[in-house]
Amino acid sequence: MLSTTVHMGSFQQTAKPARAAPGGCEYEDMDAVNIDSMLARFSEHWAPKKIAELNDYDVKIVKVLGDFTWHAHTDTDELFLVIDGRLKIQLRDGDVALGPGELFVVPRGAEHCPRADVETAMLLMEPRGVVNTGDAGGDMTADLEMLT
Ligand code: NI
Repeated sequence: MLSTTVHMGSFQQTAKPARAAPGGCEYEDMDAVNIDSMLARFSEHWAPKKIAELNDYDVKIVKVLGDFTWHAHTDTDELFLVIDGRLKIQLRDGDVALGPGELFVVPRGAEHCPRADVETAMLLMEPRGVVNTGDAGGDMTADLEMLT
């Protein structure tokens, strides 16, 4: 049996010394992104916050309540993952209802209007630079803020 000096208590350390990973590679401890903690840092609705990057995509979180605005994204699909609450994605061909842990990808070019009758928190994934109101513009267009 291999002995090791790494044990559960080591995760409480504030210092992050390099450790030997299995196979001999050195690595640093990395910080997880805690979605609940990130959600606790803002309260406004329909203003997505970037919490991570994935290649040329942004991972965003947003709180919503009420109706958004009808719009489409002509160049990209858009992923909605509900974390808490209930979201109805209104589409021209019908509605999609999402609860916690459920996701839907709105196809590129499809007109959609998200709606939440209770305050709802979601995670979004879309290419960097996508504007929340797509081709519609208007008052609900939000600048993207990065939470670190
Ligand atoms: Ni959209």
